[in-house]
Parts: sequence; structure tokens; C-alpha cells
Amino acid sequence: MSEFEEKVRETLANPQNQGEMSDADSVGTVGSPDCGDMLRMWLKFTEKDGKKVIDRASFQSFGCQTAIAVASMATEMLKGMTADEAAKLDAQELSGELGALPPMKIHCGQLVEGALKNALSPDDSSEASQPNTSNTLAGDIHAPAKGSIRIVPLED
Ligand code: FES
Repeated sequence: MSEFEEKVRETLANPQNQGEMSDADSVGTVGSPDCGDMLRMWLKFTEKDGKKVIDRASFQSFGCQTAIAVASMATEMLKGMTADEAAKLDAQELSGELGALPPMKIHCGQLVEGALKNALSPDDSSEASQPNTSNTLAGDIHAPAKGSIRIVPLED
């Protein structure tokens, strides 16, 4: 087992911040039409020195173990960050102590990145979100594959 897989296993033994946040200020949901996995992230903000700061973050994943492990790391990492700082984080940075995502697992981290960006600016099509060819995840799944990984925002 690789060091990365070992860290994922350790993280999954005690995942942090899993579950719906009833008092969240914002929620972001994304899906990967390529693997069919989905991830939702909730954010609660506070204000510190006049800046919008993430007080808490939580997630729910209908996805693979790597996505859950990255989301666990990311939701811990986000506490205390400003919304602007958080918006700049990419999948690799959000993986934190798990280490570098292996090539086959990058889209799992991008699912977390996409959910975070969607929660931070729901109306914005973030960098992690590629243009959507249809209005629904189901429609996208059946769209012809373009050979690149797509993470798309989903409606609630
Ligand atoms: Fe799709 Fe990991 S296999 S998110």
C-alpha cells in the first residue's frame, strides 16, 4: 500500500466534519459525470477584523474513499481561513496531510475543490467547473465524453 493510500485509510477511520450543517450560511454541491460521484459542502461564516472568515465546514459525500478523505482534511483546514483564501485553494492543497494526489485520484480532490468553490460563490462558474453541456447531471452523464474530467455544479 502506498503512503497516500495509508493516509487515506487512517483518515477514513475517523473522518472529520461529516454530515449536514443545519445552520450553514452556504452550501455547494457538485458531481463528476465521469465517475458519478457527488459531494456537498456546507460553510458557516463569521467575521474577523472586518473579513469574512470560515468558522466551520462540513460535507456529505456520495463518492469514493479519496473524496471523503480529502473532504475531511479540507474541512479541518478551512476553519479560520478567509473566504478569499479558501477560494484560491486547489485540489492538491486541499488534500493537506494526505500528500500529493495520485493522477488517478486528482478528480476526487477536484470534487472537493468544486464543492468548496460552489459554496463560496454559488452563481459563479469556478475554475473547477467546466462548461455544462446540459442542465442536469443525468444529461451530462449521457453526453459524449470529451476526454477531460468535468466537475459540474448541481442544483439541490
Ligand atoms: Fe470519483 Fe473519486 S472516483 S470522486
